[in-house]
Amino acid sequence: MCGIVGYIGDNKACPFLVTGLQRLEYRGYDSAGVATLQQSNGIRLTKVSGRVAELESAIDDRIGQGSLGIGHTRWATHGAANQVNAHPHSGGAGILSLAHNGVIENYESLKLELQNNGYQFVSETDSEVVAHLIADCLKEAAGDEIAPQDCVEAVQAAIARLRGTYGLVIIFRDFDDLLIAARCGSPLVIGVGKNEQFVASDTSPLVGFTDKIVYLADHQLALIRKDNIQVLHRDEGRVRPDIQTLSSETVDVNLEGYPHYMLKEIYEQPQSITNALRGRIDYDNATAKFGGLNLTTQQLRSVKRILLTGCGTSWHSALVGEYLMEELARIPVEVEYASELRYRNPPTDHETIVFGITQSGETADTLAALREMKRKGHHTLAICNVIGSSIAQEADGGVYLHAGPEVGVASTKAFTSQLTVLSMLALYFGRLHHLSFEAGSRIISEMEKLPELVEQTLGCHEQVREIATRYQESDNFLYLGRRFNFPTALEGALKLKEISYIHAEGYPAAEMKHGPIALVDENTPSVFIVPQGTVYEKVLSNLQEVKARGGPVIALTDHVDPQVTKLADDVIQIPQTQDFLQPIIASIPLQLLSYEIALLRGCDVDKPRNLAKSVTVE
Ligand code: M6R
Repeated sequence: MCGIVGYIGDNKACPFLVTGLQRLEYRGYDSAGVATLQQSNGIRLTKVSGRVAELESAIDDRIGQGSLGIGHTRWATHGAANQVNAHPHSGGAGILSLAHNGVIENYESLKLELQNNGYQFVSETDSEVVAHLIADCLKEAAGDEIAPQDCVEAVQAAIARLRGTYGLVIIFRDFDDLLIAARCGSPLVIGVGKNEQFVASDTSPLVGFTDKIVYLADHQLALIRKDNIQVLHRDEGRVRPDIQTLSSETVDVNLEGYPHYMLKEIYEQPQSITNALRGRIDYDNATAKFGGLNLTTQQLRSVKRILLTGCGTSWHSALVGEYLMEELARIPVEVEYASELRYRNPPTDHETIVFGITQSGETADTLAALREMKRKGHHTLAICNVIGSSIAQEADGGVYLHAGPEVGVASTKAFTSQLTVLSMLALYFGRLHHLSFEAGSRIISEMEKLPELVEQTLGCHEQVREIATRYQESDNFLYLGRRFNFPTALEGALKLKEISYIHAEGYPAAEMKHGPIALVDENTPSVFIVPQGTVYEKVLSNLQEVKARGGPVIALTDHVDPQVTKLADDVIQIPQTQDFLQPIIASIPLQLLSYEIALLRGCDVDKPRNLAKSVTVE
């Protein structure tokens, strides 16, 4: 994971480096560092164990003067989250400095070789190996007199020996007009300015600095000077940089008065769902329409099977998608964790299409799983939020969520937007097969009510806060639901775990009696999602089973009947909708509950421990 930035130009490097790192903290926040170069003083370096805010205070005048620099915010993989392991790392007694995002799999053998050649390692990281390796190659290539071209050749020679993934930014002590960036498996984008250039792990740091961007592809290396960029591909040699315009959706994000991004994003859901629906309803044909699937109607009609994949919350969306597609479209669906799919070899036929669901579009497992399925000849589609992200670029087609930037590590609005898009896809496939015009029209009118229903649901916030106060000390929670709301239960449990560090389990409500019911006691609250529908009575029976064992019950229901009120300790009323849209509504109180409990427990809601927003390592 990790976020990296680089600057070269007429201005001071640090304002961009610090702003960029702040915006990239979602990729990791264990430690941070910057290195800048002022020719007379060489490379100056400062690193902190902790957040970018601490780094900012540690930047002194000497570092602040540099007009060439690199920076890094870390999510630890190799070595503890401390100052020594923080990037940038120096190579060859300070001849160069680099920041790395990714994992070098063969670092141990390379380290041994470099140690035998006399290189001293100070950190436990795989990244320091790359720094010394480049220094070693530079020594080989150049001898005593070093030219910029030697630096390029040294980087090329070093990365040829790396196994694994990397996004690298490198500066050299002897050249104040040279910044090298190289990519294999970890994203990098260059921002093109006037007499200045920027590099970052994604486009968010570039907002407000430039709107001209060049995505670096795998196996490309960029030789960046303040007034020009050269891109070299490992196999193709020099390639023309494809300068694109930064999407206006990549707006600068601020809290707009909210205390946390998570809360802001929860409250943005009426709008983000509206955005997901916008322009995608075809009233004349009572169906949905998508611009980017890149398949003809005939090809889409011939789809016999759908494979949905993703990680974490996006995997939960996939599970809802399975129910949706089977119910509305009658197409067999399989859901697989991307981390499993990438190493499985499932028998599939050429009429199977694969959807990768991902907010960030950078999740390493999802990217690798889609690549593998693409390699096998399947049409791959991304349901993705971040425009121009690696997965969006790699897939054969897809659907953007248009939810706007999601900054809080706990995914909220991306989840409900994913479900909205999946509902529309299910409608679309359903209308290609058996769904009548009338049924399609009914579904559309229900979907159009969603933003208003979510707005109404947010009205439960005060009640949820009060419930959170009573249960904030609990060490365990159960989340239970059935059919469409089984994945909702999983998602509710994940939200609570990740931001409040409380152990929580999501289960299909009826499965509870096969084991988890043993956890029930007076200190273990169970959150039941029990809206009306085909399994309403069944879930009520499961609720009674918990109550009979003394477990406190919080019930989310769209139907306050006396039975529920009598059994549950708390009843949160949610608006009624069609069963297949219930997860969108029911997840709102669950997001608020986890938020309020985390807050009461003094947890860092937007940056929970050990996590990062984008998981770009395996
Ligand atoms: O960006 P992605 O949707 O691919 O991310 C997948 C998971 O890492 C992500 O959903 C994670 O589980 C969230 N922190 C959950 O809130």
